[in-house]
Amino acid sequence: MSHPTDPIFVLDSGLGGLTVVRALLDRLPYERIVYFGDTARLPYGSKTRPTITHFVKQIIGWSERHHPKHVVVACNTASALALPEVRAAFPHIHISGVIEPGARAAAGASGKNEPLIGIIATEATIRSRAYEIAIRKRRQRARLLMTATPLLVPMIEEGRRNDDPLVELALRQYLRQMTRDRIDALVLGCTHYPLLKPAIRRIVGEDVAVIDSAQQCAEDVAARLVEAGTAATMGLMMGPASEDRSRLSAFVTDDPDRLARLGADFLGFGVEAPTLVPPEVLYQQDAGSLGLPAMTVPEISA
Ligand code: DGL
Repeated sequence: MSHPTDPIFVLDSGLGGLTVVRALLDRLPYERIVYFGDTARLPYGSKTRPTITHFVKQIIGWSERHHPKHVVVACNTASALALPEVRAAFPHIHISGVIEPGARAAAGASGKNEPLIGIIATEATIRSRAYEIAIRKRRQRARLLMTATPLLVPMIEEGRRNDDPLVELALRQYLRQMTRDRIDALVLGCTHYPLLKPAIRRIVGEDVAVIDSAQQCAEDVAARLVEAGTAATMGLMMGPASEDRSRLSAFVTDDPDRLARLGADFLGFGVEAPTLVPPEVLYQQDAGSLGLPAMTVPEISA
């Protein structure tokens, strides 16, 4: 049984899900958030459904020690490929993703009868056709132009941002057809991409609605918490809402120092002492669930 004071657990392959954390902290000022970035195994976008599903199941299994009242799969790739199977594996946990909120925003972004909507995402997300299905459910007549943009995640994780010439070059190549065909809206179908919004906006122009699903996702989570009766309210706090940084604890499977260094680009504040959870800890859980003997692997704070 979940309680309003339990945390929201947010996961991604790397740092991209922090764009969703930022939106959640803004929208839900009384919630605590536990973030998990699977940085050792990033990128998910070039992997297959069984691998991604296995990783996400391991992480949600690990999350149970924090007793989350809600799990947000803040990764489009994992939402597109793993969500139904993961929900079936953890029927006692409320789990939501980012595709449906993003598709809802895309479907409402243009007043035109047959809008041309561009979608950029990882190879796995594009291959899954998850956005196409989710948008068409709401706007049957929308025309869609989809492009996989696999170079963007490694560049963002490397710390490259909007004025970097490699970023500019990659975006111009990837968005060439979309600008030529004059899209009406562009879905940033990966939680890393909002970091490049200024550069994307420069290329597509001011008239194109650029949709990042983080805010929509935060609205969606807020509604789900209210529906489940688990939303944290001011009355539950000991005093005034604590500042954003103290409401967030973060875990990564590799290089906690990098999260501490780059986290501020996503959040507007630095992440204090992220904790390392080596992937062995997650595989050890698999061994435990198969009844195999487990070795002890410590978690380490940066
Ligand atoms: N941030 C992720 C997404 O939203 C995935 C990036 C990756 O690991 O390829 O798709």
